[in-house]
Order: sequence, then C-alpha cells, then structure tokens
Amino acid sequence: MTFGVAVIGMGWMGRVHTQAYARVRHHYPDLPAPELIAVADDVPGRAASAARQFGFARSTLDWRELLDDPRIEAVSVTAPNFLHREIGAAVAASGRHLWIEKPVGLSAADARAITGPGQVTVGFNYRHAPAVARARALLADGAIGTVTHARFSFLSDYAASPDDALTWRFERERGGSGVLGDLGSHAVDLIRHLLGEIVSTSAASAILIPQRRRPLGVTSGHERGTGELGAVENEDWVGALLRLGSGARVSLEASRVATGSPNAYGFQIHGTAGALSWDFRRMGELRAGAATIPAGPFSVGPGDGEFGAFQPGAAIPMSYDDLKVVEASLFLRSIADGTPHGPTLADAIRAAEVLEAIADSASTGRNRFVVSN
Ligand code: NAI
Repeated sequence: MTFGVAVIGMGWMGRVHTQAYARVRHHYPDLPAPELIAVADDVPGRAASAARQFGFARSTLDWRELLDDPRIEAVSVTAPNFLHREIGAAVAASGRHLWIEKPVGLSAADARAITGPGQVTVGFNYRHAPAVARARALLADGAIGTVTHARFSFLSDYAASPDDALTWRFERERGGSGVLGDLGSHAVDLIRHLLGEIVSTSAASAILIPQRRRPLGVTSGHERGTGELGAVENEDWVGALLRLGSGARVSLEASRVATGSPNAYGFQIHGTAGALSWDFRRMGELRAGAATIPAGPFSVGPGDGEFGAFQPGAAIPMSYDDLKVVEASLFLRSIADGTPHGPTLADAIRAAEVLEAIADSASTGRNRFVVSN
C-alpha cells in the first residue's frame, strides 16, 4: 500500500523529512510506503531541484497549490516558524495528516490554531534516541528512586560568530523567540517526556550579540552575513529554574552562542537512589550511578527504544537522521492505527505554554506559573 506525501519548505529539515520518508520502509516494512508526490519552496529553483534529486512527482513555488492535489494524504511542514500556523492550519483543515516541525508556530496560540481530523506528529526528535527511551524506562521502574533535581542543557554554537547572518531565526516576526523556541523547546519536551509536567518557572535571558549583518539574497540555512547591520530581536541565551508537578527542581539552559560547544545537548537527572545522564554527542550511551545499574556509561542496543529497527547489536552508533526515521514511522503508524504515537500537537501546545511562562518570567523577573488556555 502506498501513501502520498508532500513536503513544504526544502531547507535542512525538508531534506531530512524527505530522506526519512525514503528510508522508513527499510526499517519498518509493515508500514505503508510513502510516495513522494510534491514539494514546495518559495525560493525559485529549490523545490524543482529537490524534485529531481529525491524523485517528487511535482514541485511548486506556492504551497497552496498542493492542497488541490487529491494524491497528497500527508504533509510535512518544514518551513520557518512564522509559517507553521498558516500552513499547518490549512493542511489540517484540508483533512490531511500533518508532520510539523517544532516549535509549531510563534506561540501557543499558533499551535492551538491547527485543528483537523488527521493525525499530527511534531518534530521533537530527541525523545526517539534509544538511550532516552532506556532512561525513561529506568525512571518508570524507580531505578534511581524519586527524582529530586535535574539539569537539561541544550547548548550550541550555530550563532556564536557575530558574522553569522541575520536570518529569520533572529527576528521576532518570523522566528518568534530565539534559542528558547529553537533549542529550549526540545529541552522542555524532553523534561516533560522523562519527568512529567512543568508547573512554574523563574528565568533569565540575554541577547549576547545584539547586531548581525543581513544575508545578501536568499539563504540556505546558517550562513555568513555580508549585508547591512540589523538588530537581533530575540534571545541568544536562556536559563530557567523549573518546578515540576512531582516537586522536582530542574534547571534548563539553552544557548545558540556557546562557542566551542556545537550540539551539546543532554541531561543529568538525580534521584534519591542514583543518577542518569545522557549527551547527544554520544547518543548511544547512557551514564548511570545507582545501586541497581552498573556505574559508568553503558551502550544501548536492541530492546532499547527503536534501536532494533536499525542495528543488530549494542554499541553500533545511530545517527541524528535515524531519529527522524523513527519519527516518520511514528507518524505513519499513527495514520495507520488512527491513534497518536510519538510527540503530538498537545505536546507542542504544552511546550509552547511553558516557553511563554519562561519568556514572561525572563522579561518581568517574576516567578511564573504555566497557564493553559
Ligand atoms: P531552513 O531555513 O534551512 O529551511 C526553511 C525552508 O523553508 C527554506 O528552504 C525556505 O526557502 C523555505 N520557505 C520559506 N518560506 C516558504 C514558503 N512561503 N513556502 C515554502 N517554503 C518556504 O530552516 P530549517 O533549519 O530547515 O528549519 C525549518 C523548521 O524546522 C523550523 O521550524 C525549525 O525550528 C525546525 N528545525 C527542527 C530541527 C529539529 O531538530 N527537529 C532542527 C532544525 C530546524
């Protein structure tokens, strides 16, 4: 059985979603086979070139044209954040299934505006790492006792150079928040996934590089700016102290200007009977220190999360792109079963509510409760 899909926004994530569609049946042969029907990108030539490279049947500059194509049953929205609401809402209202990138719009209200009868899967991919799945299982088994406090840091250097271009990511109107929505949203999702709901926060944030040069012409991701100087409008760094529903205390730090620390994402979780820690850069390892688990790092393997769909033996490294293949499988399985698997729109809405409380606390200096509307 085949299943028609389209991708809107052919930058980094557009390519990763497309490659995940192409590979998903290699790892999950029981799922329907995605058929690449159409790709849209508003930069002239970008969608046409992707159609040639990946084998989409058609390409267009205008994503709205895709909504008239009855062959398309599911759509990936991998365009910049400011377009998530308009495109996501139109795709969902058309009855199609939606795989949409985080943070799902610029605000919780944007995420809430997406409604329709289809399934929605959100790009919170760090959940899918087998070591994270193992950590979740160990926490549920009480292997480290009751969690008392934890640290989640999502540090990167993608904007550490003042020469990095002032792209949509640095503008309020098109990016929304800065590193908070970009990396902080992943951290919030992981905290909720592993430790439960976040109820309140005290936070601080900073713009550490206040001006950058605009890109000349269109960009294809992270590039040097050579145009005129413009203001950075959203935070480069954020730190938040969170209180969870369980009573545990968690510190969250996210930075896009952490020089020398590319993609340094991970956590340390402390409980009454031990600790667990994970670093994305050594994705297949979990570190433990507890009476019931061997101390030090151990490698995950078949039986941990989705590892077995990729490799036959422990300690064979998986990749970032593999996490997106897992996400594609959860999306297709949700559609096949009519039941959500993986990160849902409700997760994106709740994450956005937490991000709004963090942003509000950072700007007012007050402790904030996370409010649902
Ligand atoms: P990007 O800038 O590389 O790609 C965005 C693409 O969308 C570009 O090709 C651009 O031309 C296209 N686009 C812009 N306006 C459009 C329109 N009106 N119609 C069709 N296409 C349009 O950005 P990137 O890094 O791929 O990010 C896209 C989304 O993915 C963002 O929401 C970002 O937060 C998310 N993301 C998620 C990651 C994850 O780990 N889950 C990692 C990186 C990004």
